[in-house]
Amino acid sequence: MCGIVGILGKGPVAGQLVEALKRLEYRGYDSAGIATLEEGRLTRLRASGKLKNLEEKLAGSPHKGHVGIGHTRWATHGKPNETNAHPHANSRVAVVHNGIIENFRELREELTAKGHKFTSETDSEVVAHLVADGLNAGATPEKAVAAALKRLKGAFALAFLFDHEPDLLIGARRGSPLAVGWSDEGAYLGSDALALAPFATSIAYLDEGDWVALRREGTTFFDAADNPVERRRQPLQTGSFLVDKGNYRHFMAKEIHEQPEVVGRTLAHYLDLAEGTVRLPFELTFDPLKLSRVTISACGTAYYAGLVARYWLERFARLPVEIDIASEFRYRDPPLPEGGLMIVVSQSGETADTLAALRYAKDHGQHVLSIVNVETSTIARESHTVAKTLAGPEIGVASTKAYTCQLAVFACIALALGRARGVLTKEQERALVSELVAAPGQMADALNREAQIEPVARDVARASSVLYLGRGPAFPLAMEGALKLKELSYIHAEGYAAGELKHGPIALIDYAMPVIVLAPPDASLEKTVSNLQEVAARGGHLILIGSPRAKEEAAAELAGFVELPEEVSGPFAAIVYAVIVQLLAYHVAVFMGKDVDQPRNLAKSVTVE
Ligand code: F6R
Repeated sequence: MCGIVGILGKGPVAGQLVEALKRLEYRGYDSAGIATLEEGRLTRLRASGKLKNLEEKLAGSPHKGHVGIGHTRWATHGKPNETNAHPHANSRVAVVHNGIIENFRELREELTAKGHKFTSETDSEVVAHLVADGLNAGATPEKAVAAALKRLKGAFALAFLFDHEPDLLIGARRGSPLAVGWSDEGAYLGSDALALAPFATSIAYLDEGDWVALRREGTTFFDAADNPVERRRQPLQTGSFLVDKGNYRHFMAKEIHEQPEVVGRTLAHYLDLAEGTVRLPFELTFDPLKLSRVTISACGTAYYAGLVARYWLERFARLPVEIDIASEFRYRDPPLPEGGLMIVVSQSGETADTLAALRYAKDHGQHVLSIVNVETSTIARESHTVAKTLAGPEIGVASTKAYTCQLAVFACIALALGRARGVLTKEQERALVSELVAAPGQMADALNREAQIEPVARDVARASSVLYLGRGPAFPLAMEGALKLKELSYIHAEGYAAGELKHGPIALIDYAMPVIVLAPPDASLEKTVSNLQEVAARGGHLILIGSPRAKEEAAAELAGFVELPEEVSGPFAAIVYAVIVQLLAYHVAVFMGKDVDQPRNLAKSVTVE
């Protein structure tokens, strides 16, 4: 959460700071701010709300400083107003912070007693005063930061700018990501490579506990014990980080429509298309025959991808699967089998709870395989094996293309394990691969169903509560559909296993609550249709997403129907049906005039627990 940036440039940096913050706005957009050195003095400009408010302010008050820091906020402590906006500063130092300082209350009391005056409700401001305290006692900026870092508890990334220090920026990382970039024009700090892509030509990542001093004559990295260390510098491919909506109205629309291409690209990476078999692009660090169980952990949409994958791993590889959301898993102290396989799933690769689940699994002797979209992320770097999704940067806060790519990778892993464990024959593998390979084309066809989806979306937009039902892999997809709808439109929605309906939720049925039934023509179709009829019998407001056969068998009055071809069936149908639930949520939100790409209260990368 929160995006931070710092620039030590040769010309005015305010515009570049804002440009970098635009690329970080997906991490939070409650407020934004910059601090630059104007004639040597720390000068701040902050605004509540989205970055455009800061841009408007900046237009009326140009800043000329050649060094500065910037921040876009996702509020944790204190209201999302201007007073709580970063940078936080005093006369000596300004700081931007991503993360949480857990011991800020004690530190605040201690520093207040020493005469420091606090002006915000944030945990972050304590860092500025702690460093100023060291500076007041005569420490150099480097020494003051190093000492302050040792007093902080929690997870954070920080960037510091010092009064009368036009040649210095300091960054620090513990738990939250931070990268350093370089070009002929200057040196940069940023929460991720995306922020630095327009400026930097090379990049290095801080390791856990590192801090870094950027000066014009060079950059020095230090580890947590303050020893100077080297960190690997690599070229930054700017072309791959282009952020633009193309011809679409929203990033989310663009990302939904990119799915046939990126899922196809991801599959091509994991399959031998000529042979029609799976070819994992990495070596397994364990013997699949000796595996007794797979554990999966993730958050939100990535967790729902894991839930779909459970069906595949159990069916194709005959592996028992334990799966839990990461915020629960990490504190359950779950027993894990000796030498077991842990799969963590994350688009950003920075989700704090998922990272903690990964570390727990590693500490308990598991082989950790991560399915991530950001290859340079912390989760990727801490895993034994990285299975990347080739979704490209996902900017819309609601995950779409990363989710279907996660499903594609999971499907390939399940088939590879099935083969390696002797559960699937080569012929069975080939047949399943050919079903999987059909998915991108079927997704492209699903994208052409917008004319059917729009009237359904108009109908759903009038509701205050919506139920999604599905069986098998369509059950987690029902949860994913409900999540997409609630986060984009703020309409309450729940995803339920269709068979569970009669155990409680059926009491909710009335015509005011649309019930969206996901009914791919698979082995459970008949049972799903029976559940649909239970809703119909109670005067329910039914919307069916399914094949013509599902509609025929339902033989019920439908308020809406989105048709997918009969061929979209079998174990991987959920990948294609995902497109429909995404488009539906998208159109509902558009009808309602909601902020599709940046829904309220959310952030793209959740680096706090
Ligand atoms: C919902 C959504 C979130 C994320 C979750 C995990 O549309 O995007 O539920 O899936 O915050 O994020 P990652 O995948 O980055 O770990």
